[in-house]
Amino acid sequence: MTNVNAVDHPLIRHHVTRLRSVETKPEEFRTLVGRLAVLLAYEATQDLQLTSTEVETPLVTTSGHKLSERIGLVPILRAGLGMIDPVLNLLPSAEVWHLGLYRDESTAQPVEYYSKIPANQPVDVALVLDPMLATGGSAVAALTTLKNWGVPCVKLLSVIAAPEGIEFVKSEVPDAQIFVCAVDKKLNSQKFIVPGLGDAGDRIFNTRHE
Ligand code: PRP
Repeated sequence: MTNVNAVDHPLIRHHVTRLRSVETKPEEFRTLVGRLAVLLAYEATQDLQLTSTEVETPLVTTSGHKLSERIGLVPILRAGLGMIDPVLNLLPSAEVWHLGLYRDESTAQPVEYYSKIPANQPVDVALVLDPMLATGGSAVAALTTLKNWGVPCVKLLSVIAAPEGIEFVKSEVPDAQIFVCAVDKKLNSQKFIVPGLGDAGDRIFNTRHE
């Protein structure tokens, strides 16, 4: 598996197009982000470890499997919150570790405002959830926090990415796996993804004022 997975699927293309539309209102936007998060999580969990188990059906006892690793879901506040519930539905036993990061508007640098990552006992696999990968500053900060915690396997799930952000993550956290629905053309002079979808956090939480 290469470290960058641009997941190409008809459902993803369809829902991403709707997500981009300026006509899409917050209620539908939230639904679409959740749907795409599930499709990304399906791809990103293909290599989860299993152990064998037995299960009693109404007829017989048969062999089966169960997940064997500690999995952490790490939504980056705020926009990552839009991805957490649908992914948690797929992985109900996962731990959720929130990271608060916002991008300073003048410098485009990430500013951390919430982190309760403990000093020890890291999870085995961490899925970082954030719909947007722009410069990559926020993702690198989050992934670095998790690597410092000692997480052996870190994966970033983003709906839309800029090539600049992908390259930055690859250079700073080379063993991170990246899963995205679309790689856009570029960042503009304000470091917004183009064509993009605007500000995901504002569109999820209906705080967009222009
Ligand atoms: C957005 C987005 C990412 C970050 C991406 O968050 O959700 O976290 O910016 O930019 P970067 O790759 O250049 O770091 P924002 O700062 O707007 O905060 P919000 O989620 O609270 O709206």
